Amino acid sequence: MKKNIILLFVLLLFFQCKLKSTPEIVKTGLIADSAMVVSARQEASSIGISILKKGGNAFDAMIATDLALVVAYPFAGNIGGGGFTVYRTNDGKIGSFDYREKAPLAATKDMYLDENGDVIPNKSILGAMAIGVPGTVAGLFMIHKKFGTLPFSELIQPAIDLAKKGVIVTKRQEKGMNKYRKFFKEANQRIIFLDKYWKEGDTIKYLKLAKTFERIRDNGRDEFYKGRTADILVNYVQKLGGIITKEDLEKYEAKERNPIVFNYKNTRIISMPPPSSGGICIAQILKSIEPFKIGQYRHNSVKYIQLITEAERRVYADRAYFLGDPDFNDIPINILSSAAYNNKRMQDFSWSQATNSSDVSHGNIEIIESNQTTHYSIIDQFGNAISVTNTLNGAFGSKVFVEEGGFFLNNEMDDLSAKSGEPNMFGLTGTKVNSIEPEKRMLSSMTPTIVEQNGKLKMVLGSPGGSTIITSVLQNILNVIEYDMGMQESVSQTRFHHQWMPDEIKFESNFDTISFTELRKMGYKINQSDSKILGKVDAILVLPDGRLEGGADPRGDDKAVGF
Ligand code: DON
Repeated sequence: MKKNIILLFVLLLFFQCKLKSTPEIVKTGLIADSAMVVSARQEASSIGISILKKGGNAFDAMIATDLALVVAYPFAGNIGGGGFTVYRTNDGKIGSFDYREKAPLAATKDMYLDENGDVIPNKSILGAMAIGVPGTVAGLFMIHKKFGTLPFSELIQPAIDLAKKGVIVTKRQEKGMNKYRKFFKEANQRIIFLDKYWKEGDTIKYLKLAKTFERIRDNGRDEFYKGRTADILVNYVQKLGGIITKEDLEKYEAKERNPIVFNYKNTRIISMPPPSSGGICIAQILKSIEPFKIGQYRHNSVKYIQLITEAERRVYADRAYFLGDPDFNDIPINILSSAAYNNKRMQDFSWSQATNSSDVSHGNIEIIESNQTTHYSIIDQFGNAISVTNTLNGAFGSKVFVEEGGFFLNNEMDDLSAKSGEPNMFGLTGTKVNSIEPEKRMLSSMTPTIVEQNGKLKMVLGSPGGSTIITSVLQNILNVIEYDMGMQESVSQTRFHHQWMPDEIKFESNFDTISFTELRKMGYKINQSDSKILGKVDAILVLPDGRLEGGADPRGDDKAVGF
């Protein structure tokens, strides 16, 4: 009897521990009949939906959501950074907008190296030298001009009102602000987040930002690139020793680009082209694994992890060598994303032994010479779909906060390759294609993506997370297409990541579908301590009956709102 009680006690303890490490996965997300916005904050999703309810379309809602995120999610939402948008209209037209930051005109190849040719730590990450010329405002106005139906002034007003009313601090935000306090202090900035130790439940008002937004509302795009805000920005950055000039801002242009489009089984995937690596890398990984019929392996099993890891290893080696700004380089997009090329790359893969990354280089392609983020997804009541990923790069970007303007500036220069083969803050390396040149757009991993099945809209998704964006998006495509998961169920699954170098598989801290022994025996290096979470996917799935299911990633305060 006593023995049985002890056994019961041990079993209870075991299950309690198990429950703690594996939080119950919420299977179904918000279901809505006709429209939905899923973003990093409830305030921004609700503002997007309010625009749709007014009769605006997904593009109007996108602009309002984006500007609301600058207020509600200053960690990454921005006007001092850049981003990418992929869209599919209700009549099936597709396209993308590139408002990625650019290197300033005064940037030079060796600007982050010391006299010995070594990379100066943090110079491309912290402070005024890390800032790329911001693109967000140009992007929003370009999107508005092409597709907007409501006046810009109506789309920016909710963000102005929100900034004046203030945003309630969440538990996660409290933690985030405290974590970065020392960096703000080091940069010697008078910044809202240093006014006091903000706690969960406090309300922060962003009055200077509201004023900047009012000037943009009244004076349009040029306010940011040529007007008073441009002066405020340039003077501040130069005072801190930065090199951005008025000419840099005046010359900045957003661009429309042809998306990367490819088929995977019976789906058609539409994603971001260079200067993002996202679309090409997703295409390459899916083409590499397609012949293996991955659906036959249990989700997150050893074989599943092994196959994806080996594909990722080879694709990230190509990324480092072939990808960069398409305005500076010829990029062999068609070959890289072809089945033939990727199948050949997978020929030396073995189920019994890990490949060594040091034995893997880029593929052989003859080139004709001539080189902290947030994602949101929107589907409107008309059937238009938009996938948007925006970034300041690191959390709060360069930590440079334009005091008078009330906004942060990016540290996107770190996405250029400071020195061939030297890793950046995401451990990614680059070569000549992504080296520093004036006006060059830095290579990105942002992967705003739209999936069609049988000619119809199926899914809108994307993620933050630096180099892990691509693999987070990939795993969610597979969750839905191969494992028939719902959207919330899919975004809630634990994730893993391999990027060629460093040669290790990163697992989220609560990844527990396998023990790692078998992988270790085959020579895989396991890293489960560096990243508590990988990516933060906000997505929408079109259900077979036409209704929408939101997937708001439980790793953040993300929220789906719909009607
Ligand atoms: O464009 C890129 O790939 C990076 N600047 C993204 C940074 C990022 O996702 C950070 N967020 N967690």
